[in-house]
Amino acid sequence: MSTVYQATASAPVNIAVIKYWGKRDTKLILPTNSSLSVTLDQDHLRSTTTSRADPSFVKDTLWLNGKEDEIKPGGRLATCIFELKRLRQATVENEDPTAPKLSTYKVHIASYNNFPTAAGLASSASGFAALVASLAQLYALPVSPSTLSIIARQGSGSACRSLYGGFVAWQEGVHPDGSDSLAIQVAPQSHWPEIHALICVVSDDKKGTSSTSGMQLTVETSPLLQHRIKAVVPQRMKDISKAILEKDFDTFARITMADSNQFHAVALDTEPPIFYLNDVSRAIIAVIVEYNRLSLANGQGYKAAYTYDAGPNAVIYTEEKNIKEIIQLIVSFFPQKEGTFKDNLGVFAQGAEVNAQA
Ligand code: DP6
Repeated sequence: MSTVYQATASAPVNIAVIKYWGKRDTKLILPTNSSLSVTLDQDHLRSTTTSRADPSFVKDTLWLNGKEDEIKPGGRLATCIFELKRLRQATVENEDPTAPKLSTYKVHIASYNNFPTAAGLASSASGFAALVASLAQLYALPVSPSTLSIIARQGSGSACRSLYGGFVAWQEGVHPDGSDSLAIQVAPQSHWPEIHALICVVSDDKKGTSSTSGMQLTVETSPLLQHRIKAVVPQRMKDISKAILEKDFDTFARITMADSNQFHAVALDTEPPIFYLNDVSRAIIAVIVEYNRLSLANGQGYKAAYTYDAGPNAVIYTEEKNIKEIIQLIVSFFPQKEGTFKDNLGVFAQGAEVNAQA
């Protein structure tokens, strides 16, 4: 009987509070600014990927939610698979001549998201992180999470952050080869377990402009982006990291909302302009602003922070004690029965410590 070489790993979605938007190198996926995100709970929004290597396979093949996806030569998927095979050869196989030459076998990879792709939530971050983690396990690579973060980054920039749980910074780095452009954990989820993310699915439509093409247009045309990357983000990275370490929700909330606003401002500053928010997104912003205003007036500080990626769906960060109140608030303004929310409105706690493992 022949040996089966197979491994399964999963990785959660992460939602940025300091947004990555812009590449200085589109092939290596090196960003124009550092970013910071919160990795969601392993149980809720995640991708699970199984990889198998076998000498009988004739080509590398990927199935996404059961449907075959093309692996374009030289494309992002091919790059990640190539890098991991290269590492297998350079480490395990070179060191131990008796180790099976898995780097020479084709792989079959099957990846599933436990959330509907139609929910309009980004799956490339969890997808590439799970793919890289599963191949690393299949190949028994003796490498650090940093190395895997660098490889995942070449699949999708934001994926480099999903290799870690908790609060995660992607440091833009300075080397042209990308060797220092990787994610690090600022604090584990257990440091501030009271922080939760409430995902409000406003629309499950496929977004108009993809992150990849949208951010490239912004780099080419937006003067505001230059100001953002030079004069704004570096200080915000420091301030929000400090706020996380000190569990200072007021500062965390203020910076999170300001950065979401500026990201959407640079999208609007792009030629032609990119609009990711819709009327419901803007109405949710108004509700959260008013909710915080009343709370501040009562001397209770900020209670919630909204943030939006390249689409209309809101993510609201809040402390556990306020979740019930916020859900009631949102549902009272946007009753689901009338179809304002096409999908469900769910609360997802952020979290697991080490995500990229079986
Ligand atoms: C708005 O990581 O999807 O969600 O590197 O081209 O794959 P590529 O882009 P991607 O961009 C994410 C953009 C964002 C902000 C963020 O997650 O930081």
